[in-house]
Amino acid sequence: MRTFNAALLGGAACFIGTLSVALVAQQPAHIHHAPAQSRMLASPLDLAESDLDAGKRAFASRCSSCHGADGKGGKPAKPGGAPASDLTRADLRTHADGELFWVITNGIGDSGMPAFAPRLSDVERWQLVAHLRTLGGVKLDVRTGTDAGPRYVWDLPPGFPRPRVPADNPMTVEKIELGRYLFYDTRMSINQTTSCATCHRQELAFTDGKARAVGATEQIHPRSSMGLANIAYSPVLTWANPTQRKLETQALVPMFGEDPVEMGLSGMESYLLARLAMVPEYQKLFAAAYPGQENPFSLANITRAIASFERSLLSGRSPYDRYRTSADQSAISESARRGESLFFDERTECFHCHGGFNFTETVDYVGKGFVEVEFHNTGLYNLGAAGAYPAPNTGVHAVSDDEEDMGRFKAPSLRNIAVTAPYMHDGSIVTIEDAIAHYEAGGRTIASGPNKGVGANNPHKSSFVKGFTLTPQERADLKAFLESLTDRDFITDERFADPWPSHQRGQ
Ligand code: HEC
Ligand code: HEC
Ligand code: HEC
Repeated sequence: MRTFNAALLGGAACFIGTLSVALVAQQPAHIHHAPAQSRMLASPLDLAESDLDAGKRAFASRCSSCHGADGKGGKPAKPGGAPASDLTRADLRTHADGELFWVITNGIGDSGMPAFAPRLSDVERWQLVAHLRTLGGVKLDVRTGTDAGPRYVWDLPPGFPRPRVPADNPMTVEKIELGRYLFYDTRMSINQTTSCATCHRQELAFTDGKARAVGATEQIHPRSSMGLANIAYSPVLTWANPTQRKLETQALVPMFGEDPVEMGLSGMESYLLARLAMVPEYQKLFAAAYPGQENPFSLANITRAIASFERSLLSGRSPYDRYRTSADQSAISESARRGESLFFDERTECFHCHGGFNFTETVDYVGKGFVEVEFHNTGLYNLGAAGAYPAPNTGVHAVSDDEEDMGRFKAPSLRNIAVTAPYMHDGSIVTIEDAIAHYEAGGRTIASGPNKGVGANNPHKSSFVKGFTLTPQERADLKAFLESLTDRDFITDERFADPWPSHQRGQ
């Protein structure tokens, strides 16, 4: 059997250090040659014009002999063999960057597609991936000279790509610090009771432990609070709103939303600004974050700072990450390792929606050619046997009014899942065991009451939630794997903690 660990490892920039042999044998899914775990790999490049040029040159010298100068494919590499693929095909877009990287790194068996490691370095192979994207007609975001100036140094966990940051809100240490004070400040609510952190608690990976969130006026939110770990990589925000795409704008919803009320600041904008301007800490923090502005106390500056703080919330140092990125094979238990195989198996299909370095397919980052935004119906409900979900939680349907979108929600990252119970958009699943049981049954059955229905028969359900059977041992293994994703450093990191001395907050 071929083991690809050495070849894939290539250099320290790679996320997957070693992969157990058992996993190599498994049938790959998205691209016919690369294993599912290759989707975990993300480009470490902060893509510049020079990377695209280098990729183009490497393609001309290394690839065009078989794939043609324009990448449109060519002759068989050997008599009777497969012709070199058309690399401009539309469906290649749906292949993750990591899968293309894997194919270039390892080649494809005896098809004639050669392995390019170690002939080409990691960086060169990633530059080729970027070039393949442009061949496919994708317009990549490239860093230009205007980004010059002092650069924020990300403390990226091993193997993590660089988050994309809006051009009008570059990361700075000063903005992050201001954002942290605001995030933890109950002055940010109508009655000084509620801050962002009320519903997003660090020790719970920035969720709140409740089935449904409770706002400043005790109004119960229809949905469950969401974790904020690695939110910098999420191209779409909240459970099921395809139009909510920027942290800067999203923050306005809890602050000013009226249905439901979260912080209840509607109509109090100038009062809020005046209030903050009186606080000595903020006089210093706003001035430092927005130097040269005559009056830095503005709503836009508040949301920029909060968004910067949120983007700094990176989590990728769980036992599972240590197991993956270092030689520490004992970082996770034998049971968790078996659970990993199950998670990445076609039988459970978990990785289809929760794959990739952030354990969700819905990710974006610098240099990513194909921004993935997906929403799925997992068969949690089936009201009236017509596929409906209980209002107002009808998923993307609530925004699009399209029947097809009924019950479709964002697959959340499963990082830190052991501390973010209860689960699902409405907190209706209490334990990890019950979440696994839901997928085993291919959808949840509710026997009686207003939400009665057989979720497995929901006509809008994703075909990846097809049901399967696990032995008790396998169930325990899958759970052990999910528990290995808890990043203790993240939930105790001082940089993300409440900065206020308790007597000063919200006064
Ligand atoms: C000696 C000929 C040859 C060279 C050189 C070559 N390839 Fe290939 N490549 C092939 C063949 C043949 C296939 C199809 C294999 C199959 O489908 O079984 C292929 C398939 C691929 C695929 C998979 C596409 C798909 O449809 O899934 C990618 C990606 C790829 N090549 C990229 C490259 C890149 C990038 C280079 C240069 C670094 C390169 N190839 C150089 C022959 C070649
Ligand atoms: C009353 C509790 C509550 C408060 C206060 C609150 N949130 Fe949330 N947060 C939620 C809930 C509930 C959701 C899911 C909303 C939905 O799907 O409609 C959410 C979702 C989010 C998301 C999307 C996460 C993702 O994975 O897509 C972000 C980002 C966020 N909140 C940031 C903030 C910020 C910043 C503040 C303070 C300005 C804040 N929240 C205040 C309850 C709260
Ligand atoms: C078709 C895509 C898909 C597949 C396959 C899938 N999930 Fe999910 N997962 C989702 C979506 C979407 C949600 C949110 C659903 C909702 O709230 O209605 C979710 C939610 C979850 C949650 C709760 C997360 C939270 O923060 O509340 C867990 C745990 C989970 N999935 C585990 C798994 C496991 C384990 C597997 C494999 C057995 C799996 N998922 C397979 C899409 C998927």
